[in-house]
Parts: sequence; C-alpha cells; structure tokens
Amino acid sequence: MKNFVSVHDVSDIDALVQKALAYKANPFSDKTLGTHKRIGCLFLNPSMRTRLSTQLAAQNLGMEVINLNVGNEGWALEFEEEAIMSGTTVEHVKDAAPIFGKYFDILAIRAFPALQNREDDYSELYIKQFIRYAGIPVVSLESATLHPLQSLTDIITVTETFPEKRKPKIVLTWAPHIKPLPQCVANSFSQWVNKWGKAEFVITHPEDYELNEAFTKGATITHNQEEALKGADFVYVKNWSTYLDYGKIYTNDPGWQLNQKSWATTNKAKVMHCLPVRRNVELSDEILDGPMSIVTQQAGNRVWAAQAVLSEILKNDV
Ligand code: CP
Repeated sequence: MKNFVSVHDVSDIDALVQKALAYKANPFSDKTLGTHKRIGCLFLNPSMRTRLSTQLAAQNLGMEVINLNVGNEGWALEFEEEAIMSGTTVEHVKDAAPIFGKYFDILAIRAFPALQNREDDYSELYIKQFIRYAGIPVVSLESATLHPLQSLTDIITVTETFPEKRKPKIVLTWAPHIKPLPQCVANSFSQWVNKWGKAEFVITHPEDYELNEAFTKGATITHNQEEALKGADFVYVKNWSTYLDYGKIYTNDPGWQLNQKSWATTNKAKVMHCLPVRRNVELSDEILDGPMSIVTQQAGNRVWAAQAVLSEILKNDV
C-alpha cells in the first residue's frame, strides 16, 4: 500500500480486516516494524478518536508520532496552483509538503470540506496536493469527501460482531443534526460496504438528501426509514448535509432520530455511529446506553484499523 485515502488503495478488504483483528489480539506483534520511522499527523480540523487511535497504532508499531494542529499552531496553508497569496494564507502546500517529506516517513492529514462549493470539495484538492508534493505516503485522517480509517473500522466491527454465514442486513440511516455536516462518513461507509460486497446494504434518508451515486451505487436507497429498518442486523446512524443543493439543512425532522420505537422492527440490530454524537438529536439515550449500542467497541477498533494500514505502508518499505 502506498497511500491510504480511499477504499481504492486496498486490494483485499477482508485481508486488511483480518490483519487488524490480529493486532487487536496481539497489539505488539510488530512492535519494531516502525523503529526509527516517524509519522507526522497534520490536523486542519479538530479530532479526538482519529488523533488518539492513530497515535496509539503508530506507537504499537514502534513509530514516533508528531502532531501538528495546522489551524492554530502552523501557518495557514494555500492549496491553489498559481495563487496570488495576498490574502490570509501564509505558506503554499508546494513549499510546506516537501519539508514534511524530509521530516517524516508517513504523512497523515485531516482536512474537512468547507461545504461552500461542491466542485471544490469533491475535487479533494488538499489531499491531492499533499500526495503531489510531499513525496512520502499519505494517509487520510478524513478528507473533504471520505473517511477511510473510519470505514475500515466499521467493516472490522461488523465482521467481529456478526459470525453468521449469511450476509448481514446493514442500514445506513440519516439522522437530524443542528449543523450542516460533511457527507464524508456516509460516502465512505457506502463506498466500503459496496466494494466489500458481503452485506445486504440499504441507505435511507429524507427526500433531497441523496448522496453522490459514485459512492452509493449498488445499495438499495429509500426515503422510508420504517421499511428500511425492518430486519436490519446493523443500523449505522449518521447525519449529512445535502449533496445536490450543496451543504444545506433541508429538514431536521425528529422523526428520523433512531429511538427504541424505530429500532424495535430491526433484527435486534447493533447500532453504530462514528462519534461524536448529539444525544437525543441523532440517537436517543435509550439506544446509546442500551445493549444494542456498539459505538464504544467501534471507536476502540479505530486503533486496529490504523495499525493495519500503517503496517501495510511500512511493509511497502517507506
Ligand atoms: N469518528 C471520528 O473521526 O472521530 P474524531 O472526529 O473525534 O476523530
């Protein structure tokens, strides 16, 4: 593996999942693989789980970790080619990224979308510019449109929680939120589940919340949450803002919140969410505090997903 920015960087999802589960069983089995190697983690946006799990994963492999909060500790970066830098940006990625390439062996970046212009966000300019100019492997810690470490974690969590031979029914349901959020987690989860191909996959959301077909193609899509939830083995709850009329909130209908009543028609579904979660907006307390919630297990698995990915990159001889 050279970079890890989407499911397309993974040749065999199940093999990567098994590698992650092997690290979960034996975290220090490759404790010298990353000796004398450094990972630089650049955060243009806040993070709790991604930051800590990536750091733990790298340390389990013997790597040194340096975090930089670009927003308040680094210079404001410019990403556009041929920019006339007379505004707020101080340093061009073309100048900064090669320096990261000298300091680190792997570069990991979190850069959320601005949600102002769909074409800009979906061009994935930031992550592409780092890949272009850093000269070292790049790992996405969540980009403008995707969150691949989260999605790998999600497939790991489904795999270890569902030992049956049949395909599980997985429902991705939109939920209300007070702020317009990126489509990253929903896009990425859809992309991974579709490529994985080992689930009956249903996406449900209100009208006008259609995601980009490039990620959802292959899933059954319905505006009827009640129908979608029937017989589900897993319910993945996530808000996203509108994709077509970009970055807006069209509805905050509390009827879309997953609660005990709407969960009751599932097949005692395990409930997933990437976190952070707005309690009693997206998900009710009774669900989050109940036995059906596996959100803590899911967040715990972030370490093993990151460790499997970093290991694959290190084994590619960085
Ligand atoms: N799920 C997730 O990426 O969490 P953080 O934003 O806290 O990293």
